[in-house]
Amino acid sequence: MKNKRIGFATRMGAVAATVGSAVGLGNIWRFPYQAGENGGGAYILVYLICVLLLGVPIMMSEFVIGRSTHKSMKGAVEQLTPGSPFKYFAYIGVLGALLICGYYSVVCGWVIEYLWSSVSGNLLGHTTEQYSQIFNTFVGNPDRCVLWTLLFLLLNFLVLSRGVEKGIERIANVMMPFLFLLLIVFCVNSLLLPDSDEGMEFLFDIDFDDLGWKGVVDAMGQSFMSLSLGVTCLITFSSYFKDDSNLMKDAVTISSLDTLVAILAGIMIFPAVFSFELEPNAGPKLIFEILPTIFQQLPGGTIWAVLFFVLLFFASITSTISLSEISIAFLIDEYKISRMKAIAITATLMTIVAVLSALSFSTLSDIQLLGRNIFDFLDFVGPNIFMLLGGLVTAVYVGWVLKKDVIHNQLTNGGKHKASFVQAYVVFCLRYIAPVAIVIIFLYYIGVI
Ligand code: PHE
Repeated sequence: MKNKRIGFATRMGAVAATVGSAVGLGNIWRFPYQAGENGGGAYILVYLICVLLLGVPIMMSEFVIGRSTHKSMKGAVEQLTPGSPFKYFAYIGVLGALLICGYYSVVCGWVIEYLWSSVSGNLLGHTTEQYSQIFNTFVGNPDRCVLWTLLFLLLNFLVLSRGVEKGIERIANVMMPFLFLLLIVFCVNSLLLPDSDEGMEFLFDIDFDDLGWKGVVDAMGQSFMSLSLGVTCLITFSSYFKDDSNLMKDAVTISSLDTLVAILAGIMIFPAVFSFELEPNAGPKLIFEILPTIFQQLPGGTIWAVLFFVLLFFASITSTISLSEISIAFLIDEYKISRMKAIAITATLMTIVAVLSALSFSTLSDIQLLGRNIFDFLDFVGPNIFMLLGGLVTAVYVGWVLKKDVIHNQLTNGGKHKASFVQAYVVFCLRYIAPVAIVIIFLYYIGVI
């Protein structure tokens, strides 16, 4: 079967769809909880440095690989550098994406649970302590958690079976601006709460004592998670880009918007956390504890809650669609099977991972890997190992192996745009900074430092 690649209709379409993929639970759920666990300001500073020195250059390098060949990772490497072993990195990407999408779908299930209880009018009207208990009772209920996770995956694969263009682009284009506006409203609301300045101090006062190595690792992993790096997602995405799109501008726009959304999520969450005397280091449940309290402050709270969870649902599904697309595109390109077959295989594997993760707060809570339950294990291994490893391979491949003129041609569209500084910066980061930084992290894991 010939694999037809569909170009995005306009530059905006391509950028919006990629932003749709990048912005998701990573920004709104994971970033605040990680910042909370790692002491706030210093973590955010390291996060921003990671975006600048690693995120943007690696994003551009994924774009170079995808757009120059219009293929996903394995085919692209075969075309660009025949015989190169770098093509095997595709397997790490596919495996990483399957694992990440598996546990991520569980959080999408939580979003559906909260949407459902908002719609049915049961979400609000409790005390802050009760919200914490409500969340714990919910994740401790295996049937409910699995049910919502499966429902989410069903919707995800339903959209995918209708094709990339229709599925991803339409949803991303319409929903993202609304989510952005809503975040701004909630930020203003949080800033008006009593003692909101304590939350802002937590977010923006830099104190390295609270950070440590763990914080640095988490910030790096989170920057890859949020920008969707290292699992070949952006290679697959950019393989659909048109040849005249400006990759430098697109990478900067996408990274900036994605980072802005994460920071807004922080400003929405932390002033409220401090104002209501919650612990900032509550972990994965953080936003689910505090959001109902935030909605309650607003007139017509239930309507805000419904709106927010609907938009969060759409932000999440655009991310899982692109995570799933990694494996689908790989199976089609590699085994020349039909799209429907590739979807069926991907769906089956992801469902297995998702169900195991959904049960890790109840039936399977005794299973511990590296001292974590299955969900927390995947939430660690996905970003902090698979994505960083993928990022390392991408950086080395584009920085050291790929011919300079391929990079130049892609970044400048064959000399149409000036790129001397950007190109030099990107190549420097890919050659030296990213490999050194990521190798240091792996040395830390194995206890060498
Ligand atoms: N970046 C997405 C988020 O922040 C998650 C994601 C990772 C999506 C990798 C695609 C690929 O939610």
